[in-house]
Amino acid sequence: MKALILSGGKGTRLRPITHTSAKQLVPIANKPILFYGLEAIRDAGISSVGIVVGETANEIKKAVGTGDPWNLNVTYLPQEAPLGLAHAVKISEDYIGSDPFIMYLGDNLLRSGIKEFVIEFQKNRPNAQILLSHVKTPEQFGVAELSGNHVIRLEEKPKQPKSDLALVGVYLFDSTIFNAVKSIKPSKRNELEITDAIQYLIDKKFSVTPHIVNGWWKDTGKLEDLLEANRLVLESIESFNLGHIDSATKVEGRVIFEKGASIKNSIIRGPCIIGEGTQIEDSYIGPFTSIYHHAELKNCEIEHSIVLEYAQIKNIKRIEGSLIGQNAVILQSPSKPSAYRIMVGDSSRVEVP
Ligand code: TTP
Repeated sequence: MKALILSGGKGTRLRPITHTSAKQLVPIANKPILFYGLEAIRDAGISSVGIVVGETANEIKKAVGTGDPWNLNVTYLPQEAPLGLAHAVKISEDYIGSDPFIMYLGDNLLRSGIKEFVIEFQKNRPNAQILLSHVKTPEQFGVAELSGNHVIRLEEKPKQPKSDLALVGVYLFDSTIFNAVKSIKPSKRNELEITDAIQYLIDKKFSVTPHIVNGWWKDTGKLEDLLEANRLVLESIESFNLGHIDSATKVEGRVIFEKGASIKNSIIRGPCIIGEGTQIEDSYIGPFTSIYHHAELKNCEIEHSIVLEYAQIKNIKRIEGSLIGQNAVILQSPSKPSAYRIMVGDSSRVEVP
């Protein structure tokens, strides 16, 4: 069995971060999202992984390399343009060959991993097995209609959903899926949709079975879900300290201080994680905050946020529900006239009180 991780795409919902970097490499609790997927695949006993890459191929290759740290054997599969999930399957046919495979969307996170899902597929050997999760707002997802242990219909963002079972970004297929992806036509948004390919299998009487996920699942394609995934992962961290915390600092709850983190005269209220070489002074770091490596925070308050590497935040009260990009600088300026002076990237979003 092989794995296919989709790490191309447009990432329009996470601009401006995706103007300069791959969304699959945004850290959740200071670990790139994609690495959680690689770990899940390794833990399910799969060692051959094809990663579909697009414009951000070089960055993904630099981060994952040959897959050695995970004992995986990684092959990169360039997709000429983000033409849809089923298109990504289509271009992977030579790599996959006749093996069954798991397809994993590189920006998805699953608490309970995929081992159980893979074992069930290997036992029952349907042509496709899809992972489903009960959700409160099915109209915002691809929704499955079931009859017994079979999927009988899939609908993309239905106005009147037939169930509350949303399609999770992990699928298992045998090679019949290649006929499906070659037979379907692009959708209105001009993409080859994986839901259409699976519906094609259902219509041609191939067996498509459901597996309902235990534990939480998050598609991190937009900011609020990214922050929620960060919150969920931080919920289960265990404290450790490889940094330097001065005696004027108060630490409450579970906090990870990575190597060389330096904290002076601050309140750190977990769960949160402070990255390698990051400096914090005269500040409050609140729950559900991940600060990546070599950031600098002075005289500021922040919570429920993700701060990326080398960002600087100084004299700011107070930041919540935010994603601060690499090398971003946010500071209070003493110069007159007193005004907002902003240089933000295209498609950025700034909310002020
Ligand atoms: P999506 O989040 O559905 O699509 P997107 O990345 O284009 O984002 P947006 O809707 O915000 O513009 O993609 C899910 C995953 O699949 C993600 O890791 C990117 C990847 N992907 C590909 O590799 N190739 C593709 O053609 C598409 C559409 C997505």
